[in-house]
Amino acid sequence: MALAAIIVYSCSKGKATTEGPTIVVPTPEETLRQQYSKSAAQWPAATWYNNIQIRELAALPENPSKDKAELVALGKALFFDPRTGNGMKTCVSCHNPDTYWIDKKTTADGIALHHRNTPSMENVWHLEGKLFHDGRAKTYREQIAEAINSPIEMGGNTTALSAKLQIIPGYLRLYEAAYSSQTMTVEGLLDAIAAYSRSISSGETAFDRFIKGDYQALNDVQLESLATCITLK
Ligand code: HEC
Repeated sequence: MALAAIIVYSCSKGKATTEGPTIVVPTPEETLRQQYSKSAAQWPAATWYNNIQIRELAALPENPSKDKAELVALGKALFFDPRTGNGMKTCVSCHNPDTYWIDKKTTADGIALHHRNTPSMENVWHLEGKLFHDGRAKTYREQIAEAINSPIEMGGNTTALSAKLQIIPGYLRLYEAAYSSQTMTVEGLLDAIAAYSRSISSGETAFDRFIKGDYQALNDVQLESLATCITLK
């Protein structure tokens, strides 16, 4: 999953032009592997359209989240519980941890009309301020409340959520441990789901090892795909 995200960034690498993508001709005396067995800054530069923000390809930084374990535990319970919505779906119905936090469907159940597929939960901490495919949710609270309240997602009601969970002893215990209070607020519940969301990181991929200098970590086919993406052949 980290690889997919990074490849998207890599497609905007290089200098901008009004002409659209152009082919970068490799230096003839160097093999593809030699060209890429260097730091990313020395890889062949790609060209791309104007007004695309260019960012140098890099390994994903370490997950910086420092949320306390008790808050993450409360969020995890809510993430897996149908009572967070209307009793039918959970966050996991679509963001399934067994399949890298996606549902493996072309469009998510109920969301076909909007042509939206389920993105992974891996490394979503990286997206804070621009969540959802179009970046429309600026905060986790906004994004999570939409998922819970949307009739085509979980059909729940965040306004009534704290009162609903307030009477469940298991949730009172988790909430008390997270906030040292038994008076639930919707913000407290949403922030706990946010903390759990932020805690989900991808493992190290072959691409991560490659960009960190293990230049055999990608095989020839993978390397060719990387070069194709960067140089837009
Ligand atoms: C019915 C399936 C479904 C359910 C249930 C669901 N999601 Fe999602 N989730 C999606 C889809 C589809 C998107 C992309 C929607 C868009 O961009 O408009 C999304 C987007 C997200 C994102 C943004 C990721 C990104 O790459 O921008 C996060 C975070 C997220 N969901 C977390 C949650 C949480 C937390 C819950 C439970 C409270 C939840 N989702 C419930 C399908 C679902």
